[in-house]
Amino acid sequence: MDTDLNNAVKIKNLFIESMLKPGGFAVDATAGNGHDSLFLSDIVGKKGKVLGFDIQESAIGNSLSLLESNAKCNNYRFVCDCHTRLSEYIDEPVDIFVYNLGYLPGGDKSKTTTAENTILSIKTAMSLLKTKGALLIVCYPGHESGYQEEEAIRLFSEELGQREWSVLRSVFMNQVNCPPVLYFIQKR
Ligand SMILES: C[S@@+](CC[C@H](N)C(=O)[O-])C[C@H]1O[C@@H](n2cnc3c(N)ncnc32)[C@H](O)[C@@H]1O
Repeated sequence: MDTDLNNAVKIKNLFIESMLKPGGFAVDATAGNGHDSLFLSDIVGKKGKVLGFDIQESAIGNSLSLLESNAKCNNYRFVCDCHTRLSEYIDEPVDIFVYNLGYLPGGDKSKTTTAENTILSIKTAMSLLKTKGALLIVCYPGHESGYQEEEAIRLFSEELGQREWSVLRSVFMNQVNCPPVLYFIQKR
């Protein structure tokens, strides 16, 4: 295990490891190159499942090849669609939703997540969670649209009722250049 806990993605994975169990149902709302999906697939195992979304065919292709080569079992499916449409594909409660926002590393920077779609998707994901299920969201406020997106998530999540939701916002305080921000939103 990597014990150098120096970024939001690693902290996100710690949360997932502590919550997600074999047999669970996890959704990767921004599949990208498939790294998060692979991580989820390994945890939920052969009795669990992972559903991944991305708007880009190339990202779906990259994710599929990563999992076809590396996943321990065939427990995954990918959908090329916007994550605002989660409810079209999900008809049972979900344990974990993962959002790794922004654009595909090394890809087209215009194909980025947006504040408007992300908030719509987060609201839908929250309606699909099991009790004690959670959303893990990594935001990248170092670029303009990422900054607006993080601001929208902060404003939305700080208004959530404490009786129904636990909301954590986590950021490394001593890192330069607007480090990524992690949100943890758990249904109580
Ligand atoms: C930072 S990458 C995700 C990295 C990925 N989780 C991984 O492990 O490789 C963000 C991805 O979100 C996708 N994306 C952007 N807008 C989206 C939307 N509305 N619905 C679903 N995916 C979207 C982009 O195409 C991009 O592949």
